[in-house]
Amino acid sequence: MTTGTLALIILGVILAQVAIAMLLILHRRKHEYQELDTPKDTSPAVSTPPSSLLKHAAETFASGSTWEGYREFSVQRREFEDNNQSICSFYLVPLDGKPLPVFNPGQFLTFKLLLEDPLTHKSKTVVRCYSLSDAPRPDYYRISVKRVPAPINQPDVPPGLSSSFFHDHIQEGSRILLKAPSGHFHLMENELLPIVLIGGGIGITPMLSILNTVLERGVNTEVWLYYGIRNGDEHIMKAHLQTLASAHDNFHLHICYSAPNENDAKGIDYQHSARINLPLLRATLKLLRYQFYVCGPKPMMESLVPALGDWGVNSNDIYYESFGPATLKKHRKTAPAISSEHPLNITFSQTGKSILWDPAADSLLEFAEANDIEVESGCRAGSCGSCQTAVKAGEVDYNQDPDADVSPGHCLLCISKPKNDLILEL
Ligand SMILES: Cc1cc2nc3c(=O)[nH]c(=O)nc-3n(C[C@H](O)[C@H](O)[C@H](O)COP(=O)(O)OP(=O)(O)OC[C@H]3O[C@@H](n4cnc5c(N)ncnc54)[C@H](O)[C@@H]3O)c2cc1C
Ligand code: FES
Repeated sequence: MTTGTLALIILGVILAQVAIAMLLILHRRKHEYQELDTPKDTSPAVSTPPSSLLKHAAETFASGSTWEGYREFSVQRREFEDNNQSICSFYLVPLDGKPLPVFNPGQFLTFKLLLEDPLTHKSKTVVRCYSLSDAPRPDYYRISVKRVPAPINQPDVPPGLSSSFFHDHIQEGSRILLKAPSGHFHLMENELLPIVLIGGGIGITPMLSILNTVLERGVNTEVWLYYGIRNGDEHIMKAHLQTLASAHDNFHLHICYSAPNENDAKGIDYQHSARINLPLLRATLKLLRYQFYVCGPKPMMESLVPALGDWGVNSNDIYYESFGPATLKKHRKTAPAISSEHPLNITFSQTGKSILWDPAADSLLEFAEANDIEVESGCRAGSCGSCQTAVKAGEVDYNQDPDADVSPGHCLLCISKPKNDLILEL
């Protein structure tokens, strides 16, 4: 054996040992994280149970009772929140002057807007959801709406209907109809865990509500906020967030700019020149069990939520919400592909149409619309409940868990597909 061959063998053995050692360390880290998921873990970082939060709010002010259907509000105040003036907050007070019910921070409001369709110039009713962006208050709700332009590659299509209407037509004194707060994505108060809030772009709004609630109530739970935007022009409520970070030792603010401007100062305006990703979380979080709350654009959600799972975070400790139509499947797998050998029959009982299901359709809503069946819809994401329809026969499979409450014998068409032959009351 030559000296060179011997040296290569020794190098190979050393590299193999290093690789095994690294694998062992990784395995131990994951195991340690999973061990945190046992009931015996009561983190020393937590001293006041968050379960007192809403009770505290209800005791602090006279809270009203919830309501069915739409209630009329007026806009007390509106103000831009970013340098670009693309995000505007609206402060909404009930016209009847009665106190508002306490909501769960993270929940949203559903709005019914009557506006002019930019294509037909006819009146059109549009239903959309907006997260509450502040802690519960007795006298107003706040939402923060981002203007949605036409897609860059389709400049000829009209810009977002509802967001443009809010920005261009909803002024102080405007009246507006909204449903009571709802939604299953909200602060979970049954666990004594530190909280990690992750908001990408306008996905920051439910995080603001949770953050303001937790810090205002003086709860000592440790809270981390990771807020990802491109640069300082998109940064919303900057002064408010900085004030909170200076005032509360238990609040850790991590602002991430993916493309900072020349005048954005690292360490002052923002902390990280990066998108929010797992390496950043691993580098900045302690080894504890946390509750993770995530809301952001599709690429962030699709990479970060599974990455948290791979890191060893129990799926029961990850809560997330998507603003767009089905950007991320929530806890459920997509319905199994329907075999073309057994085509399913979808009967729309009111219109008298019976049509074979198209397996390429994303949802029953899309399928009904493609076949000229009129269906009410709003969020197209299982949140607003507008597309709720009675199922006379058959069953559906949900692509994701519904956020809206579904009455027995009904389904949300926008997030479901047929499991077998269906008769829908449409
Ligand atoms: C639970 C929940 C909470 C939410 N919270 C917030 C929040 O706090 N803040 C917030 O800003 N948003 C929030 N949203 C999103 C919000 O509800 C709306 O989806 C958003 O404002 C866009 O609605 P729009 O009517 O303005 O746009 P839409 O009219 O729905 O248009 C969306 C996009 O489609 C484009 N488009 C229009 N016509 C066509 C066409 N023919 N072909 C191709 N593209 C077309 C538009 O130009 C636009 O880019 C939330 C959504 C949900 C489900
Ligand atoms: S359109 Fe909102 S739940 Fe289906």
